Amino acid sequence: MFENDAEFETRKQRDIAAMAADKEFCALGRAWFTESFRHRYSYNFRWMGLPIIQYPADIIAMQELIWQIKPHTVIETGIARGGSLAFYASMLEMTGSGGHVIGVELALGDENRKAIMSHPLSHRIKLVDGSSIAVETIAKVKAIVGSNAPVLVVLDSHHDHDHVLAELRAYERFVKKASYIVVFDTVIEHLPENALGDRPWGPGNNPKSAIDVFLKENARFEIDRSYDDKLHLSVCPGGFLRCVHD
Ligand SMILES: C[S@@+](CC[C@H](N)C(=O)[O-])C[C@H]1O[C@@H](n2cnc3c(N)ncnc32)[C@H](O)[C@@H]1O
Repeated sequence: MFENDAEFETRKQRDIAAMAADKEFCALGRAWFTESFRHRYSYNFRWMGLPIIQYPADIIAMQELIWQIKPHTVIETGIARGGSLAFYASMLEMTGSGGHVIGVELALGDENRKAIMSHPLSHRIKLVDGSSIAVETIAKVKAIVGSNAPVLVVLDSHHDHDHVLAELRAYERFVKKASYIVVFDTVIEHLPENALGDRPWGPGNNPKSAIDVFLKENARFEIDRSYDDKLHLSVCPGGFLRCVHD
């Protein structure tokens, strides 16, 4: 006999809890993850024609989160080749929120800019050029956001501790109760020292260490572990920060 929705949800939550407690399964995930970096796995995918540098499970998780929040505006720092912008734009289009995704990027190439601006979803995209933590960049973002709400913030630019902490401090103001900041690449904390080649970040100096400091000084946010428990193969364990107070 078919489970009803409530039974399905209850069983799913039980299975997720058992999976999260399964140490061998978790170790398997960590091993797979380390090897996947070596193969540059995150570069394998496109969203509506544009390269999206993400793991598929995280894309599904962001879809669930956006359906839950139904943000008017998404702010993403670090847009690379625009696939994630196209993804957030398509979610805004489908949820019918009427808003925009604001893409903040330090080094957007001409080819990528052209591809983004000629994309069928470009009417939902606004680009802001500059460093995500520069005062003038934040002022431009603020002017675009205006009084629109809810706002979802996604941090995926430079991944060292100081930069992400500065981003968290600068962008938390846009997020109100029940919305989120999602911080990508917290997984760096769990990778071996040599897994990322010559990148300036690594264990102890990454988005996860920035979150640890941020949560001590800002009581408006808490980690939503439900995403970690079900995803396993994710670049953002502990990176889903739910706003609990305005
Ligand atoms: C990991 S990639 C972003 C991937 C993209 N979000 C996606 O899902 O396809 C990081 C991007 O951050 C940009 N970046 C680095 N430092 C930055 C800064 N200070 N401000 C804004 N963007 C920055 C890089 O140029 C790069 O394009």
